[in-house]
Amino acid sequence: MKRGSAASDDADSEFDSPRTVASIARSLEAAGHSVHCVEANAELPQWFLTHQVDLAFNIAEGLYGAHRESQVPAILESLQVPCTGSHSITLALALDKAKTKQILASDGIPTPPWQLFSTATAALDARLEFPLIVKPNREGSSKGIWRESVVGDEDTLRRQVRRILEQYRQEALVEEFIDGKELTVGVLGPEALPVLEIDFSACRRSGEYFYSWHMKEFQGDAARGLMPQLHCPARLEPATARRVQAVALRAHRVLGCSDFSRTDIRLRADGTPMVLEVNPLPGLSPWDSNFPAMTQAAGLSHDALIQRIVELAMSRSRHQTTASGASLDRVLQEGVR
Ligand SMILES: Nc1ncnc2c1ncn2[C@@H]1O[C@H](COP(=O)(O)OP(=O)(O)OP(=O)(O)O)[C@@H](O)[C@H]1O
Ligand SMILES: [Mg+2]
Repeated sequence: MKRGSAASDDADSEFDSPRTVASIARSLEAAGHSVHCVEANAELPQWFLTHQVDLAFNIAEGLYGAHRESQVPAILESLQVPCTGSHSITLALALDKAKTKQILASDGIPTPPWQLFSTATAALDARLEFPLIVKPNREGSSKGIWRESVVGDEDTLRRQVRRILEQYRQEALVEEFIDGKELTVGVLGPEALPVLEIDFSACRRSGEYFYSWHMKEFQGDAARGLMPQLHCPARLEPATARRVQAVALRAHRVLGCSDFSRTDIRLRADGTPMVLEVNPLPGLSPWDSNFPAMTQAAGLSHDALIQRIVELAMSRSRHQTTASGASLDRVLQEGVR
């Protein structure tokens, strides 16, 4: 399903494949639940009004608007249907990178210095140091992030800002480019998972050198030279790894994430973990998502990961509502596409 805003190659990049949806359904069934897949479209509210379920396993990215990831959980909250993962407010917030960074910074969590552009002619904050990276403020899956997004001078910067404003019809987030290790950290329940390092040094031939849209979309494509090496646990001193995990846990908590999240980090040369963004709805594909790579390194099978998310959500819902005596015999999974 197309969202309609950016009629470009990356328009569908955020949506889960039918294969991923099926794999999550299989894991739920393996745990003894009966599963109904519900498309996250305009008919979803009606479905929930006419069916009783114990839990919704949410993977809906949402279709329209600046707060799209929050819409399905907001509907479920209003219908009092327990749901896995974060609440609507966290999902809406985390989709807005600049607002997320304001909250991180106000809590003392390091994040690259930034400026938000809503016109291509706004004065550039003189404190920002090149190279800078220009990204859409409210996308995921590296949509709108290309090799050319990293800029070394003001003319090129303005060209890229204009491109984001026109093509993605939203503000352009300009950040200092942190030239350090690429790390991502999952949080599951109260704990941080082993840090995952993504090393792009084997991709030089492709011309891509960070987690651009091309890198993610064609990851593993040897012919294109897009074979980043994943290391989990990351190749870090134990003290550094603990610092990185602590930052991810703080980011998870300050944004009010529930059950699980994935925080993307670049390690600055002085060892400071700089938080790029927080993903309260990270991909769960057993084949190509980074969150399951971290749970696997922690010794959890994919089935166990899905079951753990269900347990965390059910335990939250038991604490939030009066005892309903709900059994877990009907668990609902809904997705898009
Ligand atoms: N300030 C930065 N310094 C260095 N690299 C950056 C910076 N911002 C983004 N990047 C690179 O671009 C990638 C994508 O950026 P970011 O995580 O902000 O986008 P996203 O589309 O929300 O990603 P996701 O697929 O995780 O939702 C990062 O993983 C990193 O490789
Ligand atoms: Mg990211």
